[in-house]
Amino acid sequence: MHLPDMKIAKDRSSKENKYIDLKEDYQKVFKDKKFFLRTYGCQMNVHDSEAIRSYMEQLGFIETNKIEDANVVILNTCAIRENARDKVVGFLGKCKYLKKNRDDFKIVIAGCMSEQEDVIEDIRRKHQYIDIVIGTHNIYELPKLLLQEFDKQVVEVYSNSDEVIEGMNYARDSKYSAWVNIMYGCDKFCTYCIVPYTRGRERSRKLENIVDEVKELKNKGYLEVTLLGQNVNAYGRDIGETFSHLLECVAQTGIKRIRFVTSHPWNFTDEMIDVIAKYDNIMPYIHLPLQSGSNNILKKMNRRYTKEEYLELFKKMKQRIPGVAITTDIIVGFPGESASDFEETLDVVRTCEYDGAYTFIFSPRKGTPAALMEDNTPLKEKEERLYKLNELVNFYANKNNQKLLNKEVEVLILGDSEKDQDKVYGYTDTMKLVNVEGPKDIIGHIVKVKITAAKSFSLDGDYIEEKVTN
Ligand code: SAH
Ligand code: SF4
Ligand code: F3S
Repeated sequence: MHLPDMKIAKDRSSKENKYIDLKEDYQKVFKDKKFFLRTYGCQMNVHDSEAIRSYMEQLGFIETNKIEDANVVILNTCAIRENARDKVVGFLGKCKYLKKNRDDFKIVIAGCMSEQEDVIEDIRRKHQYIDIVIGTHNIYELPKLLLQEFDKQVVEVYSNSDEVIEGMNYARDSKYSAWVNIMYGCDKFCTYCIVPYTRGRERSRKLENIVDEVKELKNKGYLEVTLLGQNVNAYGRDIGETFSHLLECVAQTGIKRIRFVTSHPWNFTDEMIDVIAKYDNIMPYIHLPLQSGSNNILKKMNRRYTKEEYLELFKKMKQRIPGVAITTDIIVGFPGESASDFEETLDVVRTCEYDGAYTFIFSPRKGTPAALMEDNTPLKEKEERLYKLNELVNFYANKNNQKLLNKEVEVLILGDSEKDQDKVYGYTDTMKLVNVEGPKDIIGHIVKVKITAAKSFSLDGDYIEEKVTN
């Protein structure tokens, strides 16, 4: 079996790219071994897992969804809130148990938890059964580490947070819709957030490399790309580019659907809005995290905008981008959030009538400024606020979805519906999930669907005999 060359540029500052080539020896060691991969957290991790899977497959490993059969278990972890960490820790308990009496059962921790010093300390002291800890910046080191590991036990973190890695291969989950990294890291340092510490400084990929990747995906038959960054509108600031220029170049590739996440309200320019409005293949959907509707709290969060500025931007988007759907993220119970601060958040939700929102109770993250702020609100009160907020959010999500009842919409059908295996599912241009009654051969097509039922989180619809993509 021939192992494809894995060409990975390790250093963007040098003119000549340095490459690691995987040798066929690797496959001799790993042939017929199995790996189990579990992913926690956001789209970044989901996409990183596609790179991990690609490495594993190229090394000769076979993926299994039965952890008992695995020789290597990889947990791609998230650290954003305590409950994300708890899930990983719980699962590690199971891994530890399975590892008893087995020499060929290796545990790899990847993702954001492996970038936290306290986690590494814990691993060194308490969880020595973990074999490899790999950072978020250096997934490309995994093959080398695995090879070492099958000889000797090491716990080592490799991290090089100022690199932009090009030429990564991805074993993508979908054949129709692909994630494309446009940048890494985050510089915003919102006071509650761990991401700048786990993902490093903001650094952008070169525009040509991104556009080439999109063209390649289009040639392979992909209909949709989602441009990924913690803060996509900051794209290019480090390399003299702009997100609006990038969007325009990606739109001109002619790929059918373009999405991007996440947008920060702080540097969302008029040009970006104009480009989104100008191109039909840029989807009218924006995820625009609010976090709080109170200026007092926004300031303490270091969000860099006021409620008024947010609302102004929101209004502009609604006016200039026809039919745009906007969703958001909101944190309740930030340190010092009073009942009236919270009321202001509810007020913004009433004004914006969001299409949907992810809502969270503030979770203190070690090492962030907010973890040290005085917080007098009891958890019970925070839970009540969350409940109240969710009621309101669901009300507007439902209201917006009802508007689509009996309407015809275009849906990119991605696969079998999870709820009902006889149905298929996909997303509208505005990113609404639709369970569709229709033949299986519409999977992988953009089709017309008539909406027959609308709920808060999804829609039902019937396929109309017309394939838009053909
Ligand atoms: N880059 C994105 C968000 C990434 S994290 C942005 O700036 O919008 C996703 C969401 O998790 C955040 O928007 C925030 O609402 C939430 N979050 C982040 N840190 C949190 C914390 N410590 N406690 C509770 N929620 C948090
Ligand atoms: Fe975290 Fe703020 Fe960066 Fe988003 S913009 S990843 S919330 S620091
Ligand atoms: Fe979690 Fe890291 Fe994403 S902390 S939310 S996986 S960037």
